[in-house]
Amino acid sequence: MASPLKITLFFCIFAIFLVSPITSKTHPLDSLTPSEFLLVRAIVTQSYPTSHHNLTFQYVGLEEPEKPLVKSWLSKPSSKPPPRQALVVIRLNHQTRELIVDLSKRSIVSDRLYGGSGYPLLTIEEQEAAANLALKHEPFLESIKRRGLNISEVVCSTQTIGWYGELKTKRELKVTYYYLNGTINMYLRPIQGITIVADIEEMKISEYTERDVPPLPKAAGTDYRASTITPPFGPRFNAAPPTSSGQRGFKFDGNVVSWANWKFHLGFDARVGPVISLASFYDADKKKHRQVMYRSFISELFFPYQDPTEEWYHVTFFDCGEFGFGIYAVSLEPLNDCPANAVFVDGYYAGQDGKPVRVPDVMCVFERHSGDVMWRHSEAEIPNQKV
Ligand SMILES: *[C@@H]1O[C@H](CO)[C@@H](O)[C@H](O)[C@H]1NC(C)=O
Ligand SMILES: *[C@@H]1O[C@H](CO)[C@@H](O)[C@H](O)[C@H]1NC(C)=O
Ligand SMILES: *[C@@H]1O[C@H](CO)[C@@H](O)[C@H](O)[C@H]1NC(C)=O
Repeated sequence: MASPLKITLFFCIFAIFLVSPITSKTHPLDSLTPSEFLLVRAIVTQSYPTSHHNLTFQYVGLEEPEKPLVKSWLSKPSSKPPPRQALVVIRLNHQTRELIVDLSKRSIVSDRLYGGSGYPLLTIEEQEAAANLALKHEPFLESIKRRGLNISEVVCSTQTIGWYGELKTKRELKVTYYYLNGTINMYLRPIQGITIVADIEEMKISEYTERDVPPLPKAAGTDYRASTITPPFGPRFNAAPPTSSGQRGFKFDGNVVSWANWKFHLGFDARVGPVISLASFYDADKKKHRQVMYRSFISELFFPYQDPTEEWYHVTFFDCGEFGFGIYAVSLEPLNDCPANAVFVDGYYAGQDGKPVRVPDVMCVFERHSGDVMWRHSEAEIPNQKV
């Protein structure tokens, strides 16, 4: 049987892809649109003007209506859909708040100070700022020089610091380093023996320790990108449409995809990436749609590296909850990631300032036969290099 969807993930930093469409009418499970992100931002900054507050948007997404409301609307789609609301997680003056913003009432209908010990999703901006701080940290620059390395070939990445039972009072990240100079597979050349911790509330280096200088792995044999491989290989997919007629067997109505007897709604979220909802199958015998899945997405990917050494013990990525599957999704490439008959769909998430960030072609929908390669590797830190 053909599977109409495909998703691609990359390592601790991943990418995705899936669907899209111009919506004819709003479906209760439609992801927030760019203009809705802007409206949310306007409503929140009206209550918390950035001139008076340290305000960052850590997460903005659809506040999903209750299931009975969605099901009731589904039984009569001409009826008024449930109110459009957004769930917004902000850092406000160094505290986390969870807001519900009602888009039609244009107001914050719930505003809760978060009292737990966790921290919200990271923003790309604060990770970049932390990495840049570290790159300018004098003791680090001296260490790079002492090791005989060229700072222009050093790439930084950020990692969460883990939790070991202590009382947390700071939001901090560890910055880790990799050396290119002959490879773009940065993880194969970690610069070890240095620990840098960045306090991302105060945006300053809070700890720097240097222990030893273990040997740097060689670059030789690690740069296995398509262009350097012998024999070279081209696009994974043939440019010719896979069906002789070039016709697609599925169609979009707004964000609802119909294919054969199947129907489902496609969404995109900063935290979890692609979301497939309300999958149903038309039962020709009973002459009705059978609901087979209400809502589905990758709720988390946890990568505990389980290496107890100083540089690695804290490496326990929660890919969705800390970094965001949607935020780290990359654009899909025609013929490399998706075949010629794919429909590409853009995704949006809120940047740290609350403005929508567009990820073009982040999802694609296509029909395929089983047996295709399912993934491709890419690094957010070296965005212009293809592996
Ligand atoms: C914003 O954060 C900076 C750095 O921590 C602090 O100096 C300043 O007082 C904060 N402003 C407000 C309004 O909290
Ligand atoms: C960079 O790589 C080249 C080629 O392998 C090598 O000759 C050179 O010493 C390296 N430079 C530094 C500063 O690491
Ligand atoms: C350091 O790397 C940069 C960027 O790759 C390169 O342009 C420069 O020549 C290198 N410097 C040395 C001393 O190798």
